[in-house]
Amino acid sequence: MAESMKGMKRTCRCAEVTEDRIGSEVTLMGWVQKSRNKGGIIFVDLRDRSGVMQLIFDSSIIDRECAEKAASLRSEYVIAVRGTVQKRAGAVNEKLSTGTMEVQADYLRILAESETPPFPVEENSRTRDEVRLKYRYLDLRRPDMQRNLMLRSKIAYLTREFFHKEGFLEIETPMLGKSTPEGARDYLVPSRVHPGSFYALPQSPQLFKQLLMCSGYDRYIQLARCFRDEDLRADRQPEFTQIDMELSFVDVDDVIDVNERYLQYLFREALGVDVKLPIQRMTWQEAMDRFGSDKPDLRFGMELHDVSDLVRDSEFAVFRSALEKRDGSVRGINAKGQGGLSRKKIDKLTEFAKGCGAGGLMYIALHEDGTMKSSFGKFMTDAEMEALVKALDGEPGDLLLFAADRNKIVWNVLGALRLQFAEQMGLLDPKEFRFVWITEFPLLEWSDEENRFMAMHHPFTMPMEEDWDKIDSDPGSVRAKAYDIVLNGNEIGGGSVRIHQNDIQEKMFEVLGFTKEQAWEQFSFLLTAFKYGVPPHAGLAYGLDRLVMLMAGADTIRDVIAFPKVKDASCLMTEAPSPVAQKQLDELGIEVSKRAERTQNQDES
Ligand code: AMO
Repeated sequence: MAESMKGMKRTCRCAEVTEDRIGSEVTLMGWVQKSRNKGGIIFVDLRDRSGVMQLIFDSSIIDRECAEKAASLRSEYVIAVRGTVQKRAGAVNEKLSTGTMEVQADYLRILAESETPPFPVEENSRTRDEVRLKYRYLDLRRPDMQRNLMLRSKIAYLTREFFHKEGFLEIETPMLGKSTPEGARDYLVPSRVHPGSFYALPQSPQLFKQLLMCSGYDRYIQLARCFRDEDLRADRQPEFTQIDMELSFVDVDDVIDVNERYLQYLFREALGVDVKLPIQRMTWQEAMDRFGSDKPDLRFGMELHDVSDLVRDSEFAVFRSALEKRDGSVRGINAKGQGGLSRKKIDKLTEFAKGCGAGGLMYIALHEDGTMKSSFGKFMTDAEMEALVKALDGEPGDLLLFAADRNKIVWNVLGALRLQFAEQMGLLDPKEFRFVWITEFPLLEWSDEENRFMAMHHPFTMPMEEDWDKIDSDPGSVRAKAYDIVLNGNEIGGGSVRIHQNDIQEKMFEVLGFTKEQAWEQFSFLLTAFKYGVPPHAGLAYGLDRLVMLMAGADTIRDVIAFPKVKDASCLMTEAPSPVAQKQLDELGIEVSKRAERTQNQDES
């Protein structure tokens, strides 16, 4: 039976018991990790969020009631215990910070019993994710999860502290907003008062933070919840948190400066890691050319080499046709020491390359005995082959891989292969933190699907002055004052200088295919606000979840979010989303289509 804690007061948490308390009395409260009965002496590991303390119940010292209660303890019971701290009589437990001590208990209350949990609450659980997430409240008791969430809390605190000292104001922006085009799919919320009309949950506070600059707040920061209805991956959740900021009267360097100091402060205070400033900067073009990615992982080399000029006159049709395409190229990487890879494994790489959009993958395997094997050698002259090997610094034992297609595909394939090899070859040290700013992104990106240019960042991103005169003749070549901050191959944040001149903004909408009326209909509040004196401004937003994931050394952002969603965007614990009562739908004037009902029924069965 559960007892009350009346009259008992916790003196400290388990791991807060230090050796200077030896000989004094403490009252601890927490969960039973495990208990062992060794002939009259019961050993209990007591767990709370700080750690574990060993308790000793010695039936020759304690009264009968206490001994009986101690004997009844099971895993996950919640108890309050009073006792004296002493040096451990038995072997020291090196794994625990409290491993040299134990508490000789003299008084015990059982505050709550527990059924046998569906999985043991322990570090590095091997329990299936589905079970962990269904019983998330138990999963969150595990020490590694608690460490992650405590780190997250510390990061949020340090972030607020740093930016407040830098003169940023924390201002909240609405959750119920207006659906605007561009970007990902919105989560919509129906309005009861305005049947048939919908709010959109914010994909980011972008427009509001720009309005706050118009209103003279000068420097804004918010730990903002954002919602995007997009396909989930290890680093994507439908709801996530941004460290979102905006600054007035600044340019690219000012945003970068305050954020570099923030990152240095954060990593020092939270992890004791020294981030050397300035952080390296790389243009988008250089990142793509050297690493095939706009979020390059710089913890290892294996850079891409453009060999188009070396194979331009070759007989090989794959190379020739790639080079005839608009933005076509032939590029390669050197997977050092992988020349002995079996044919089967190379076939697997080719499949992988095809999955990334390539027609195929070409290779030269350089054997230790000086011979070489190649999938395309018979179409090439010896001189051409030699030139390729030389361009990639090929040595005996290496595997040279080539892709030929439009740049976008070639970068995609080789960028992904580069990462795959690095993982296989153990080149990625999670304790190493390699930051890089990626700058000068293209302003626009051609969408085959939409058959028009789309904003690469968002439609309010300022073009670079020196490129603006090409906006009509060659829009694809105009670069933007946009920047991303990348850590170990992850885009942890992105931002830009914003357009604050009406004529540039109108032109931008025109290039994106909006008529003037459409632009006004969608963004009238912003465009009107900009008529009343708008300061030059710029900003940035970090994905807090990704930042915490990397700092915690976790593999997915799910492990740093208390209650995350799974791949199909549902919550296994609450079973959201769920159908609602007909009455609620009627109030909102919503009719569920037959098709949606069928899907609902399938989900339930
Ligand atoms: P952006 O769309 O690049 O920029 O988002 C900023 C950062 O948010 C993180 N992020 C995500 N994290 C988890 N799950 C997701 N679904 C997800 N989507 C994005 C990424 C990303 O770098 N308003 C602009 C910022 C600005 O211009 O100031 C914006 O939202 O780490």
